[in-house]
Formats: sequence, C-alpha cells, structure tokens
Amino acid sequence: MGNETLMRQILDYGSRSDPYPLYAELRKTPVCRQDDGVYTISTYPELLALLHDPRLTSTHADQEAAAGGQFPPAFIGMDPPEHDRVRGLTMRQFGPPHSPRLIAELRPDLEATVARLIDAFPNGGELDLVDSFAYPFPVTAICRLLGVPHEDEPRFRAWADKLVASIDPRPGEDPSIRLQEGAGTRKELAFYINELIDSGRGNSNGMLTLLAEDHEAQGGPLSRLELVVTAVLLLIAGHETTVNLITNGMLTLLRRPDVFERLRREPEIAPRLVEELLRFEPPVQIIPRRGALTDIEIGGVTIPEGSTVALMLASGNRDPQRFRDPDRFDPDRPDVEHLGFGSGIHSCFGAPLARLEGQIALTELVRRLDNPRLTEDPPPYRTSAVLRGPRHLPITFDGLRP
Ligand code: HEM
Repeated sequence: MGNETLMRQILDYGSRSDPYPLYAELRKTPVCRQDDGVYTISTYPELLALLHDPRLTSTHADQEAAAGGQFPPAFIGMDPPEHDRVRGLTMRQFGPPHSPRLIAELRPDLEATVARLIDAFPNGGELDLVDSFAYPFPVTAICRLLGVPHEDEPRFRAWADKLVASIDPRPGEDPSIRLQEGAGTRKELAFYINELIDSGRGNSNGMLTLLAEDHEAQGGPLSRLELVVTAVLLLIAGHETTVNLITNGMLTLLRRPDVFERLRREPEIAPRLVEELLRFEPPVQIIPRRGALTDIEIGGVTIPEGSTVALMLASGNRDPQRFRDPDRFDPDRPDVEHLGFGSGIHSCFGAPLARLEGQIALTELVRRLDNPRLTEDPPPYRTSAVLRGPRHLPITFDGLRP
C-alpha cells in the first residue's frame, strides 16, 4: 500500500480505535508528501526539530477561531513577537513567577468537584464515564479558573457543549456549517465574558478579573478583545483535551487490571502514570496545520515554501528510536519526554492544570469504583482523528466505595 493512502486511512473513522499500526507504517517515511500536498512528519527527532523551528508558522492554525473574520486569532494561531506578548501577559495570572500558587490552590476545589460528580453515580450498575464524569469535570475546572460565578456555570457549560460539537467533524456534513455554528457560539460567549468583566460579577480571584486589571504588566493589560479571545481559547483548548485524557486513561487502566490495582494501592504513582498516558494515548494526536515560511530541508526531503505541514505527535510518541518497547504502557518508564503537550513556544499553556485534573480524576475513580468492567471494547469514538478519544465509555460496576 502506498504512503499516500496512509494519511487517508488514519483520518478514516474506521481506524479511530487503533491508529497506531498505521502510524508505524507512516514512520517508514518520516517526512512524507501526501496526495493532497500536505507533508506529514511522523518520527520523534524530526517532530521535535520542527516544533522548535521558527520557519514553521502557526498563523493558519487558528482559522476556525477566526471564522467569519469576527475575531482576531488567539495566541495559539500567532507567531512571535505577538504570540510571546499575549501568552506572556496571560501567563502572569496562571503560573510562575507571578502566580506560583494558583494551580496548587485549585486542588481542593478540583477534589471537591470530583467527589461531587462521583457521589452522584448510582451505587453500582451501568454508567457512561464520559457523560457522567469526564465531560462535566474540565468545564467546571475552567469556570473556576476564569472566575465564572457558580450560578452562571450551566450557561457557560451550554456554550462549551456547542463549541466542542463545532470542532468535532460530522461525517458527510459541509464543514462550513460547523464553522458558522462555532463562530455564532464564540460571539455569544464573547458578549457574556465582556458583560461579566464590566459588571464586576466575576470572582475577583479569577483569571478574567485579574487579567482585565493587570495594570502592572509591561505595556499594559490585554485589550478587551484580546482578553475575550484568550478566554475562549482557554475553554476550547482545555476542554475536550482533558475529557480525552481522563477517558483514554480509564480505558487504558480498565484494559490492564494489574495497573488499575497498582494505582489503587499506590496513588503516588499518579503523576508518572499520567505522563505515560500522554505518551501512550495522547488526546491531541496531530497538529494538523503549520505552514512552511521558506523551503525546509528535513529528513532528506525539502518541504517547499508555502506547504502545509501536519505534525503527527501520537506517532512520535510511539517511535522506537526514542522509546523502548513503545507499544507497551509502562508507568515506570524513565524520562517520558512525550510530545503530548507539543513542544517549543506553543507547548501547552494549560499543562499544569491538565496534569492535576488527570491525576485527581484517575486516582479517585480507581479508588471509589468497586470492580468496574468495560461493557464495550473498543468503545465508540468521537469522529475527530486530531482530538481523539471515546465518545462514550460504558462500564458496569458493583458499587461505590466511600
Ligand atoms: C490533557 C489535556 C491537554 C492536552 C493533551 C493539551 C495539548 C496541547 C498541545 C499539543 C498544544 C500545542 C498546540 C500547538 O502547538 O499548536 C497545546 C497548546 C495549548 N493548550 Fe493545551 N492541552 C491540554 C489541556 C489544556 C488546558 C487545560 C488548557 C487551559 C486551561 C490548555 C490551553 C492551551 C493553550 C492556550 C495552548 C496554546 C499555547 C500557545 O500557542 O502558546 N490546554 N495544548
């Protein structure tokens, strides 16, 4: 089978539950021109090099966010120096050195949210872990982070649902309909965020208020439009990705009862286990659209100026040149320098929050579910090959532990 058809097979829904043999085939040609002209990069060293290469632009990565020309791109779709300015201003209210304790301080709130969601499960029987747990958890976390008031969470959640639906392609549908729906939802959300800041109803320790009032920042705070676009980015980038981390995680554990039991006995392995998950089943499988600003020579191939480059992160994570026995899930693997959060200037902004959410969610589910079993393996997947994960994760279990 020619390499040209491999990318089509990877994108085909039939491959969703196990694309990894196809990635292994693709790695035989580390830099490969596909029949639509897109260059796929599938091996670890080449991926790492290009993630750090300023000759690739991210400016058309965020076309969907800018759909309809209503909004400027968010920083995921910018190059330096603009990218660094906006990311730097946003980071002031998210992590070190300006806000070193923010993520750690979210822990009690995240633990309480997880406990509340699990307490609402039936005491045994059947359950869909996506709808009952993995889906609602991250959006609550982002609401807390941004400072959305409790009473507004249901409205916020409805927008999040619509946004997630708008980025998950529906087979056979004209993609412009999806983009239009997404643009409409972004607009509603933008109006809401704007009103929230103006009215002062937002939590005063939330990122929205802190960013709007950050007059100590060099060059002044983010403009209101930048702030709104950034908030929408945090919601989109942080939602489905984290849902997929949790569901891919439970699927991986339920398929390996020995590892499941080990996490129950030794919850302290959770940080390493989550890193291995981000390698083994990364929620972002592909960065589909970077652009070559000039001719780029890599892996013995010249990628011509103007080409679209697809970075196959999930393939790099299974590259035997970099990881010994890569198809084995091994939470004891030393130095898991996976590509699950990307790398370089666009590496995941929300990684510390995503890690914490994943660790708390998996540890608590494993601790509290009595004898859970998968009722469908493989489970039904979402359509997207880019943000890949189960749409439902049906399980049966014998009861809930306190
Ligand atoms: C397990 C969950 C997550 C995964 C696997 C993930 C993965 C990624 C990846 C691969 C990128 C690089 C994209 C690129 O290079 O174009 C990225 C960027 C980003 N992520 Fe995440 N992410 C996760 C959770 C989050 C959360 C919770 C947030 C926000 C609270 C977030 C916010 C962002 C932002 C803002 C960027 C753009 C960074 C930039 O362009 O400088 N992510 N993420």
